[in-house]
Amino acid sequence: MSLSLRFILPLMVAIGFVAYAVRPLVDQLTLKWFVRDVEIRAALVANTIHEPLVELVSTNARTKLQTFFGRITEDQRLYAMAFCDARHQQFVATRSLPAAVSCGDMDRFVGSDSGLVVSDQGLLHVAVAPVAAEGTTLGQLILIHDMSFTQRRSEETKRYVFYLLVGLGGLVSLITVVVAQLSWRGWVQGTRALMRGEGLLRPIEKINMPELRPLARDLRNLVRELESEYRPRDEGQLSWTPETLRTILRADLHGEEMIVVSNREPYIHLHRNGRVEVQRPASGLVAALEPIMRACSGTWIAHGSGSADRAAVDRHDRVAVPPSKPLYRVRRVWMTPEEEAGYYYGFANEGLWPLCHIAHVRPTFRAEDWKHYAEVNRRFARAVVDEARTRNPIVLVQDYHFALLPRVVRDELPDATIITFWHIPWPNPEAFGILPWREEVLEGLLGSSILGFHTGFHVNNFVDTVDRVLEARVDRETFTVTFGGRSTAVKRYPISIEWPPSDAARWPPVAECRAKVRRRYAIGEDVLLGVGVDRMDYTKGILERFRAVERLFDLEPQWRGRFTFVQVCSPTRSRIEQYQEFELQVRALAGRINGRLARGAWSPIALRVEHAEPDEVYEHYRATDVCFVSSLHDGMNLVAKEFVAARDDERGVLILSQFTGAARELPEALIVNPYDVDQCAAALHLALKMPPEEQGDRMRIMRGLVSEFNVFRWAGRMLLDAATMRRRGRLVERSSSAVVPLRREGV
Ligand code: G6P
Repeated sequence: MSLSLRFILPLMVAIGFVAYAVRPLVDQLTLKWFVRDVEIRAALVANTIHEPLVELVSTNARTKLQTFFGRITEDQRLYAMAFCDARHQQFVATRSLPAAVSCGDMDRFVGSDSGLVVSDQGLLHVAVAPVAAEGTTLGQLILIHDMSFTQRRSEETKRYVFYLLVGLGGLVSLITVVVAQLSWRGWVQGTRALMRGEGLLRPIEKINMPELRPLARDLRNLVRELESEYRPRDEGQLSWTPETLRTILRADLHGEEMIVVSNREPYIHLHRNGRVEVQRPASGLVAALEPIMRACSGTWIAHGSGSADRAAVDRHDRVAVPPSKPLYRVRRVWMTPEEEAGYYYGFANEGLWPLCHIAHVRPTFRAEDWKHYAEVNRRFARAVVDEARTRNPIVLVQDYHFALLPRVVRDELPDATIITFWHIPWPNPEAFGILPWREEVLEGLLGSSILGFHTGFHVNNFVDTVDRVLEARVDRETFTVTFGGRSTAVKRYPISIEWPPSDAARWPPVAECRAKVRRRYAIGEDVLLGVGVDRMDYTKGILERFRAVERLFDLEPQWRGRFTFVQVCSPTRSRIEQYQEFELQVRALAGRINGRLARGAWSPIALRVEHAEPDEVYEHYRATDVCFVSSLHDGMNLVAKEFVAARDDERGVLILSQFTGAARELPEALIVNPYDVDQCAAALHLALKMPPEEQGDRMRIMRGLVSEFNVFRWAGRMLLDAATMRRRGRLVERSSSAVVPLRREGV
């Protein structure tokens, strides 16, 4: 619209100017037309009155002729009349005959083109008609017309011409704008199609003109860069959906190659009951990365850990997923049981896991585990290089299983953009300092272009650790670490869940969920529910939770028989001794508390140790009055966010450990220190008594936050930063090749 105005207005001004400039031409033309009219009119009058005139002149009837002329000049156009005899003497004239016109100089008007005279009376036209009878010239009839009307008419005509021109101009410009816009749109669509390799590009390929392909490629890059330059970057204006993510991938990272590396695979093939089944792990990480992979048809490299995984892959160890509608591929990496024991159970989960989670479980470091960890990291890095089809893919490395991989990939693919996300906490430098291979781990991670953590606290811990352990330049203004000539941006990206949850349509109503869960654990109608959902992990504070429940019944005995806490634990890493011991402790504590407090059909704790499918987990969230997350240390904790997402009825209370990343985003939960048993018991009491209005107020705020800060934002912000980094890298590349060698950073 503004474009149209910008175009039409100057055009109208130009047309107005032209219309003004042609005014004298209009004057001349109209005068010419009117003179011709008046001449015809004069000739007509002369012919009409010829006979009576001849008779009156021949009979010398001057008075009669005077009256005759007077009557004729009553016509408002005919201003004056006269008759001059053959000797050029005035015979008769009306009184209106102007002084400028006399019988003596009539000859100047005979045969004249214009016959115009400017007199005191204004513009006049003088027509002279000879009068003869029987071959004898009697004299000349003078007819003088008032031409002042021509000026009026000319003014009117000029006005009409002006309006006409402006109107026409407006119409023409409007048509031009419409046509231009239509063809621009067509052009843009055509160009976009070309960019996508459709339309124009296809015929080029078909007619085998490879020389045009570089042109199409350059054009494609140009348009993409222009598009991304002009896209608003104000995050407040973005609402994060899978579509936003797709738009970023299309516009900012169009055609870029995306490779994900994680230990857990998104689809696991298992032999079950003589058949091959595909299972999806209930993992926040998988749920977060799937939308990216689906949108960009990338490659996901993961450990092939399913019993039927080998049977499902092709000869390159690849399998297309999702099985129902393949959109990207999984490349499986194999390891021997010894390697898995050393890399996964050993160094990752007995070493790094307890090292990073301050949960008072002593880390175990074995040189043998470290060797396997390093070897498996190299194997995954090789798989990245194998899978890369370009020299500069975007590689998304997930978690503490791959601390060494970024450096190995960087050495092989120096132009790759490597984003590593550390899903667990990063401890303070003193705690990290006990790791025998601390330099190697840090150097490995600093092979990344971007290193992400859930909280600013972990970002600070990492930067402090590097400062303490390595000879690196740490810029605390930009949170950039430069090591070995290359920079790594250390940033905070709090992970979240899908919003709106794609399974929400399948959820039964809250009342139905309550009934089902109550039936399942044999809980009475009038008993309030508490729920905890975790992997059976010592970092989750499950023992502390049970102690808080027991304390509640001691401090507030009114809840005995009126409240049951349901704990769902999925078995995890159960080969590790500490996990086995932990499970025993959890079972024993639940047993002891139930043994002490249970009455009749009522038990204080219902413990279920088995894997629960996501639908079932959400049923628990929807059924409960209180959800209790009591992690002793947790990078984020997605159970808290899932519970909030599940409660579209805006009911239920969340009790949340202050040692989770989620506590920083959800202060409307009841925030507790899980080590403080009395405080946790008080929080349980408060939650069970909380009026529905207050529950609604708190839940609404939390739902608002999770909906906005969802997983698409987590992934989108990392990808946007990667895109910016790549653009900067290209600029530096261009300028360094054009001017002086510049150091390339963070690419
Ligand atoms: C944590 C880790 C993930 C891991 C998950 C499940 O959330 O950050 O990387 O996948 O636990 O653990 P598992 O050992 O079963 O993969």
